[in-house]
Amino acid sequence: MSFLRLIYLKENKKRNYYRILIKKTCSKDLNHLNFDMSKFIAKYSELVQYQHINAAGSLFGGYMLAWLDLAAGKAANRFVKDTEAYTAVTRAMDKVEFKEPVFLGDWVNCEAEVIEAGTSSIEISVSAYAESKRHGRRLACTAHFTFVTVIKNDKGEFLKYNHNVSLD
Ligand SMILES: CC(C)(COP(=O)(O)OP(=O)(O)OC[C@H]1O[C@@H](n2cnc3c(N)ncnc32)[C@H](O)[C@@H]1OP(=O)(O)O)[C@@H](O)C(=O)NCCC(=O)NCCS
Repeated sequence: MSFLRLIYLKENKKRNYYRILIKKTCSKDLNHLNFDMSKFIAKYSELVQYQHINAAGSLFGGYMLAWLDLAAGKAANRFVKDTEAYTAVTRAMDKVEFKEPVFLGDWVNCEAEVIEAGTSSIEISVSAYAESKRHGRRLACTAHFTFVTVIKNDKGEFLKYNHNVSLD
């Protein structure tokens, strides 16, 4: 075997070793992240269609609010899924900002994250990214939600419920 061939084989062995090491490390880290994130983060997407368009030719804000609420609700319900609670309902929505117009054919990808847990309440931050080939990807809307964990009494009324879940 030539000297150059020997060097080449040694280098290749080294490269493969590091490739396997990086793959192992990354998948370990990602598994760890997926485990934590699946509990407190939720994604929800909608395609902007004709029925969603307002007189100005962009997305009617009311639809955006509904989609943000659904994304926040998904995160909140994931957060309380191992408790005795019936569900978590929207108590307040604030700090809504429409940052960029959204157009027909855009995908709206909402990302909701539980940022704080109170006694019965759950604080959730939601960001909606609009995305299309024509307009690219941009942060279109943000909002803050408070959900309250509830149980249902015999009359079918919602009563607040201490979820006993923490972010730690
Ligand atoms: C949710 C509901 C059962 C809460 O009962 P309640 O007796 O009003 O409860 P409270 O006012 O004590 O609030 C419960 C929690 O929300 C928090 N909260 C109340 N008003 C809030 C507001 N305006 N902004 C932020 N948080 C608020 C309180 O601090 C409390 O948090 P904590 O338990 O972590 O300390 C009741 O308000 C309700 O049924 N609301 C209607 C829900 C609804 O129909 N949503 C839309 C459809 S999902």
